[in-house]
Formats: sequence, structure tokens, C-alpha cells
Amino acid sequence: MSDRIHTLSGYFYEYQKSVAEPENFWARIADSFHWKKRWDKVLKWDFKGPNVQWFVNGKLNITENIFEKNLFAYGDRVALIWEPNDPNEESKKITYKELYHQVCQFSNALKSKGIVKGDRVIIYMPMIPEAAVAMLACARIGAIHSVVFAGFSSTALADRINDCEAKAILTSDGNFRGNKKIAVKAVVDEALEKSSVETVIVCQRTGQDIEMKSGRDYWWHEVLEGQEDHNVAEEMDSEDPLFILYTSGSTGQPKGVVHTTAGYMVYTKYSFENVFQYAPGDVYWCTADIGWITGHSYIVYGPLLAGATTVMFEGVPTYPDAGRFWQVVEKHQVNQFYTAPTAIRALQAYGTEPIEKYNLDSLKVLGSVGEPINEEAWRWYYTHIGQSRCPIVDTWWQTETGGILVSPIAGITPTKPAFATLPLPGIQLCIVDPEGNELTGNSVEGNLCVRFPWPSMIRTTWGDHERCKQTYFSTYKGMYFTGDGVKRDHDGYYRILGRVDDVINVSGHRMGTAEVENAINEHPLVIESAVVGYPHDIKGQGIYAYVICDMTHRTEENLVNEIKDTVSKIIGPIAKPDKIQIVQGLPKTRSGKIMRRILRKVAEGVTDNMGDTSTLLDPEVVNQIIEGRK
Ligand code: WTA
Repeated sequence: MSDRIHTLSGYFYEYQKSVAEPENFWARIADSFHWKKRWDKVLKWDFKGPNVQWFVNGKLNITENIFEKNLFAYGDRVALIWEPNDPNEESKKITYKELYHQVCQFSNALKSKGIVKGDRVIIYMPMIPEAAVAMLACARIGAIHSVVFAGFSSTALADRINDCEAKAILTSDGNFRGNKKIAVKAVVDEALEKSSVETVIVCQRTGQDIEMKSGRDYWWHEVLEGQEDHNVAEEMDSEDPLFILYTSGSTGQPKGVVHTTAGYMVYTKYSFENVFQYAPGDVYWCTADIGWITGHSYIVYGPLLAGATTVMFEGVPTYPDAGRFWQVVEKHQVNQFYTAPTAIRALQAYGTEPIEKYNLDSLKVLGSVGEPINEEAWRWYYTHIGQSRCPIVDTWWQTETGGILVSPIAGITPTKPAFATLPLPGIQLCIVDPEGNELTGNSVEGNLCVRFPWPSMIRTTWGDHERCKQTYFSTYKGMYFTGDGVKRDHDGYYRILGRVDDVINVSGHRMGTAEVENAINEHPLVIESAVVGYPHDIKGQGIYAYVICDMTHRTEENLVNEIKDTVSKIIGPIAKPDKIQIVQGLPKTRSGKIMRRILRKVAEGVTDNMGDTSTLLDPEVVNQIIEGRK
């Protein structure tokens, strides 16, 4: 491939070119795709609106770029290897040609149910090939998919259905997770009591008993009956939305990040090929769930656009035992392996024995994503999984960025533990102080911004453009603000320090503290709550909740358990607080603002030197909180 970086000097050369002539740089990359009509202008933008358009007036369909463009060249190549939850069940291999026919057939089925271009379709499914088929079938007919992680509760699902006014839901009868069966369809039914959706299509996975509402619910295999396995892909504009993905921010309601067609397509393929240095014939495996952006960009779209063989894994790292990942690596001869620091730390706790049973010689590149990787986990990953010979790509990016922005190029950029190293060509980073002054030069620390658009950036938040503007483009003038703190060291390398806003990162999942507080406050005996993150050995950050309650009717233990259940019910088990401390009061300023800085310190275990507490309304509250610390 011509736009592939092969050397370090090549990287620097491309980087310079991408800054000096961004439009030429991206036009050259975009030219390798199939366009029904080429664009008129590469880029139109202002960050004030914000209004960003890439490949203006171009017409295309992303699935044609996965399938039709390449079927002659490699139709018989394996596109997807599916590895089930239970190692005794057979894995599946699906070629590009087979996947193409499945996507066409299912997209015809969607059309037969009245789903048309622009309609929103929620995908609430386990990690089975049909989930990828569902996404691609939506893209094929121009329906906007919104995948909701299947661990979210019915309330969280209903919020998302309502926010995007979904017309259909694609789901399964149940999910396997380790040795458990999860009743997914029941969650959908409950969510639909609070929202209206015309069509539910249910894929059979576990075979468990479910209710099917006539006139609304259809079996997946039945809607496929009689559908042709080919069709003509819908013509989409470059800037037509491809999908919405909900993510947490510092306010209570998750926001629907909107990605559009052409820019997302160009950037995910470009970043996938370069970062992982994927070579034809390689087997690539990303362990994320398709409910998160990593699953969108680097299980489905990026790899498939690049003609890669991508592994999709239904299970969990520790079932049936802590060697499961390594068994799958050996079984499918995985070459690139991409996972999250929380999984690495969890497996590290089992020692090296589960690894020693398997041959990991196929591995060439290791990846990390989702949260800062601590040095110890990095070294363990490098030594025991990569056998001290595989480069680690520590990839920094966000739901909003669509693709990886900062990362080593595997085997080319010299790495340093815990550093995401350098921006990809095309990405113009900027570090600012809290007032928005740019910190130039090396050895600086501040907030991470991007000063120039890149093709896969967020375009808007669904139904509320102002929110997109306020959240990302208003803090610092003329820049996209990431919400992350960063350090640039003496070599110019970037090290991400974590969120500087009220977002916490629990096992690589983003959680707004306000969202968790809102859920806690739903418990009828809760008067007020404040949630902060604290360092957690495995999860990276844990959730620490300070709660004021009416204690007259319950014991503390009962209340704590009830509050945990409430959060689980309203958001999902991933948001359950790790620690709940019942308090008499919260440290507030005279103007009524909670001083989270103090709460964070107590949660971290600091018991003296609380910093400036002169603005506190009642300093005694702090002592009480320290005494009751969990
Ligand atoms: C964090 C996941 C450090 C960061 C792709 C970001 C990271 C948030 C890294 C986005 C990394 C992601 N090093 N921190 N390599 N990757 N993050 O939207 O705080 O789920 O803002 O996207 O995860 O999380 P999101």
C-alpha cells in the first residue's frame, strides 16, 4: 500500500507533509477508496460551529469499500474468525464473499421491515458474527446504527432508544458470559415498556425461553427467509451519519456521538494499517466488545476495510480459566493482539503459569487501549506475552475521535513504557494550560487539545449540536478539547495522564460521576451523593461514592447493598460503586459547590494536608469523612 509507513524517517516525512498540506495528504489516502462520485472539496471547517465536513459532496457506501471493491481480489480470504464463549463449541470462519452475502441478505430483510436510509437502529447483541452483520447491513442501506453494550440495563437502553428515536432493535434471545446465560431479550422487553419501537429482530443464540410479541418481534432466521443475498448499496453522502455511539460525559445524560461515512472510513483503515502494520494473511484480534468504539473501529470497520482477518471473541479472559486468551492466540495463530490494561492487570494476578501452556510465537504486535497503562503492566505484557520481542502499541484515542490519534507505529516508533509516544500523521496536537495558553516545546504538562480537524472526528451530538459545541469546542478557543491531561517529555513523547474532568475510567469504561450520582439518588432513602474515582489495582480506577441517607429504616449494610443494586439496575453492573461511605454531610463551599478535590483525596487514602479548605462551609465535615473512610 502506498500510504503505508515503513520507516521512522518515513513517519516524520509523512507527518511534515500532513501538516504542511493536509488536504493533499488526505486526498491521496482517500483516493484509494471506491467512490460512487468523487468529492468536490477535501475539507471545509470551522471549530466555532463546529462545522467540519470531509470529502464534501462525495458519494459512496462504506460496505462497497469492504466488499465489492475487493471481492475479486480476495473474496475467499477469511474476513471473520468467530471464537465462542465455550471452548468446546466450534469456532467459525467466514470469508469476505460469505460475509458479503450475509450482509446483503440481512440488509434486504431490514428493508422488508420498512427500515430505510436515515432510520436509527439499535443493536443490543452479544459478540456473535450476526452483530457485525447487523452493523454492516445498516450501513449498506444507510440506516444509522447505534450499538448499545449488552451489559447496560433496561433503563440505560431505553434512554438510548428514546434519545435517537430508534425504529428497530436487533438483539438476541440471550447471551453467554462465562458460565452464565444472560436474559437479554427480557431486558429489551423491559426497555420497550418505556419506549416505542416498531420492530425487534431476535437472533437465536442461547435457545432460552423468551417472549415474542406478535407484530413487533421477529426471529432473525425467519426474516432472512426468501431474501436475496445481493443488492445494490445505498448511495450515501460523505457526511451522512454512519452511526451514533453513546458515551458518558461530565453531565448526567450520556451523549450520542455522531460519526459520518467517508471520514470515518478513511481514517479507520488508514490508522489500522499503519498502527498495527497489518500484512495480508495476518490474523488480528481485538478483544474489545462491539458495544464500545474500539469494537466499531478496530474489530469491524478498520480491519474489514483493510481486507484483514479479524477475530471476534464472545467470551471473557478468565473462562474457563485464565489461559483462555493465550489458548485462542495459539489456536488461531494470532499475529496482532489488542486488549485493555485492565485485562492485562487482571491476568497478571494469575501469574505466568496459564501462559506457559501455550505457544505464543505467532504474535508480532501487542496493543493497549482504553486507559493509561501503568509501567508494571506494560513490562509484564511485553515480557510474558510478547516474549520481549513484540512491540507494544499504546494507542490513545476516544469515542469522539473515531480512531487512534496517538500511538507508536508498530516496530517503527521506538517505544517507552506508559507512553502513547507520537501523533499519527494528520493529527495536530496541542497542550494548553488551564487558561488556554499553548505550552510549546518539550517537558511540559497540561491539557490535551487538537487544533486541526481529522477525518474521523465527532461531527455532532445526536439531537443537540449545542452540547457538542459546549463540551468539546468551547473550553479552549479554536480547539477540540479531549478532556485528558497529558505530559510531553524531553523527547517530545506524549504520556496520557488521565481525565481532567468529572469522568472516571473504570476498567477502560468511561463513566460520568454525575451519571452514577443520578443513579444513586434514585434510591428513595438517598438524600444526596458525590462520586469520585480512586486508584484501583485491577480496574485502573474504582468508583467511590459518598452518600447522605435517611438511616431510620435500614442498617448501613442493607443500604449499601440496595444502593449498589439501584445503580446496577439504572445503568448496569459496570457502574456499581466499589465503595460506598454513608456520610452525615459533604464538604461544600459557601456557594454550595461540593469540593470534590477533598473527596478524591480521602478516597485515595490521604488523611492530612487537604490543601486549601478556607472556603469550606463546615470544615468539621471533612474530619467526619476521614474517620469513616472505607
Ligand atoms: C482514555 C476508548 C491513556 C482517555 C478508545 C480517553 C487512554 C478515554 C488511552 C476515551 C491510552 C483511551 N492511554 N488513556 N492509550 N486510550 N484512554 O471514549 O482518558 O471509551 O479520553 O475510547 O479513555 O475512552 P473511550
